[in-house]
Amino acid sequence: MKKINVGIIGFGTVGKGVVKNLLKNSAAFSKKIGISVKLVKVADKNIKSNRGIKLAKGMLVSNPDLILEDDSIDIVVELIGGIHPAKEFIKKALSKGKRVVTANKALLAEHGKELFEHAAKNNSEIFFEASVGGGIPVLKGLREGLAANKIYSIHAIINGTTNYILSRMRDEGISYREALKAAQKEGYAEANPKLDVRGMDSAHKIALLASLASGKWIDLKDIYVKGIENVEQIDIDYARELGLVIKLLAVYKEKQDGIEVSVTPVMVKEKSMLAAVSAAYNAVLVEGDFVGNILYYGLGAGEKPTASAVVSDILDISRNILSGKSKPFILDFPNSRKKVKPMGKIRSQYYFRFRVIDKPGVLSKIAGVLGKNQISISSVIQKERNKGSAVPIVVMTHKACEKDVQKAVKLIDNLGMVKAKTVVYRVGGR
Ligand SMILES: NC(=O)c1ccc[n+]([C@@H]2O[C@H](COP(=O)([O-])OP(=O)(O)OC[C@H]3O[C@@H](n4cnc5c(N)ncnc54)[C@H](OP(=O)(O)O)[C@@H]3O)[C@@H](O)[C@H]2O)c1
Repeated sequence: MKKINVGIIGFGTVGKGVVKNLLKNSAAFSKKIGISVKLVKVADKNIKSNRGIKLAKGMLVSNPDLILEDDSIDIVVELIGGIHPAKEFIKKALSKGKRVVTANKALLAEHGKELFEHAAKNNSEIFFEASVGGGIPVLKGLREGLAANKIYSIHAIINGTTNYILSRMRDEGISYREALKAAQKEGYAEANPKLDVRGMDSAHKIALLASLASGKWIDLKDIYVKGIENVEQIDIDYARELGLVIKLLAVYKEKQDGIEVSVTPVMVKEKSMLAAVSAAYNAVLVEGDFVGNILYYGLGAGEKPTASAVVSDILDISRNILSGKSKPFILDFPNSRKKVKPMGKIRSQYYFRFRVIDKPGVLSKIAGVLGKNQISISSVIQKERNKGSAVPIVVMTHKACEKDVQKAVKLIDNLGMVKAKTVVYRVGGR
């Protein structure tokens, strides 16, 4: 039986899961797929701490070069995270003719084009299932299961931390700060949660999903990103009253006039499948021209789910090595000349919450500005009455253009009777 030798760089959360899985299941893989996958070395900066896993003597090393320069190793698994030196490790592994598995979405979203080209030049490949949706096999789904389809759209909840925070805010009526603290206490949010709460982690992932769906490399800088730091309980309450739920949605859409890729908090219909995705769960709703709608759902992070995706990549690559085939990540199909549209051109329904002085004529003035900017109102909620003082007014619109919305809100916020910056949400999703 052919042996495939594996070296892992990074013995942290995911690294531990992968090591445990390979030690436990290697024999079963031999029986199931006829390949003997052997873990030969693990490298980490820290080789002293007790991770509760017994490795054979000499297997744990502190120098990654002992893996990168070991000719007997076929697959290098990069699990250190970050940009440098992960990028250099991957390039070196590929140059040495090794195949690579990584879970590093930040690195791939920022430098993926260069890395995939480097892999192709070296007749090698990079697999990265764990980089989006943790244990959910969504990249494989797009690449293989949905290969017969043109992908029209992807609507995804792909950051467990923000979904956990928004779920707690809605379920318990607590503030963003309180929910963030709870997420940190439960281990769902990092001590520094910026990458998650500002939407960048979701942006890294939708960049990869959108690249696979469109066949064209999607640049991070073309993605409109807005996080959840400013989500307030009052808007969660109004959303509930309107039958809506606030979710941080990563969206990809391909239309005649171009591609939309964005990450923003969106008010989605309470009855939609994505509204039901709560706590730290992830879900990716894909719409293809033949398959219709497909929902991928599961745990998007954590030691075991993420290790499940990494090891399935190791097995896929092992099969490729044995069959002498490789499946490079194909980019820039000749038919994918469509550009990413600027956010200003995106059309959506909108929710506005104005804070205005309660006096006659205010609503008509606001409606006037909206009307002049091609934004038509579908409904209005004003509950509080407090003559002469500031009260909230919620306005829902029909579909409008983001550029017009930005312009109208700027004008409205400059009106004397408006007492706070207007809160705006897109309404939609699926
Ligand atoms: N955790 C998840 O649930 C999850 C889910 C999906 C994807 N991912 C991705 O998986 C990757 C790994 O994440 P993780 O959560 O396992 O991270 P982690 O727990 O921080 O583990 C990374 C390990 O690599 C070590 N390391 C860092 N730089 C190194 C170097 N130059 N040489 C050798 N070892 C080095 C770290 O040591 P020190 O701690 O001493 O720096 C640490 O032990 C990241 O790209 C992450 O985005 C993680």
